[in-house]
Amino acid sequence: MHSLVIFASGAGSNAAAIIAWFKASGKAKVSLIVCNKPGAGVLEIAAREGIPVLLTEKGSFSNPGTVARISECEPSLIVLAGYMWKVPDVLVRMYPTSIINIHPALLPAYGGKGMYGSHVHEAVVAAGEKESGITIHYVNEEYDKGSIIMQAHCPVLPGDTPADLAKRIHSLEHFYYPRTIEYLLDNMK
Ligand code: GRF
Repeated sequence: MHSLVIFASGAGSNAAAIIAWFKASGKAKVSLIVCNKPGAGVLEIAAREGIPVLLTEKGSFSNPGTVARISECEPSLIVLAGYMWKVPDVLVRMYPTSIINIHPALLPAYGGKGMYGSHVHEAVVAAGEKESGITIHYVNEEYDKGSIIMQAHCPVLPGDTPADLAKRIHSLEHFYYPRTIEYLLDNMK
């Protein structure tokens, strides 16, 4: 069975969707949740599901124990789902083709430093875009610049608030992220 390590520091709705999907499919198990925010909603999900948690702080990744804790999970994929920090280069070098992220817009638009969470939806609505969506991509050393695996689109409707758009984007994420992960696992050498 494949092992997944999820990095998440927010409400954890994507983590929950991935956990539920793979509990049902049986193709993978979430071995560890890495989180940088004490009190984050994802920690309750981890506790409920009996998934171990690694809480990281600034500087944690210069401690070899942190990287070792992740590598001992032998992850087929490291899945970023709302982890608020840039992934340390040491991990990108160790897993150059197996760290993926989901971004709540159609990259390369509305990506880069500072473009996360509600900031993205506020910018999309303020620009009067007619369309937004999600991007699932590999992670390299630069924010939101790794190669794109898939994108899915949705409309931005007249009168949408950033919160309305966030809701629409979340449902796209919950549908496509687990399925894309499974596709990648099924096509691994
Ligand atoms: C998602 O919108 C994702 O695109 C972004 O962070 C958000 C995490 O939401 N990278 P949740 O914690 O999974 O609910």
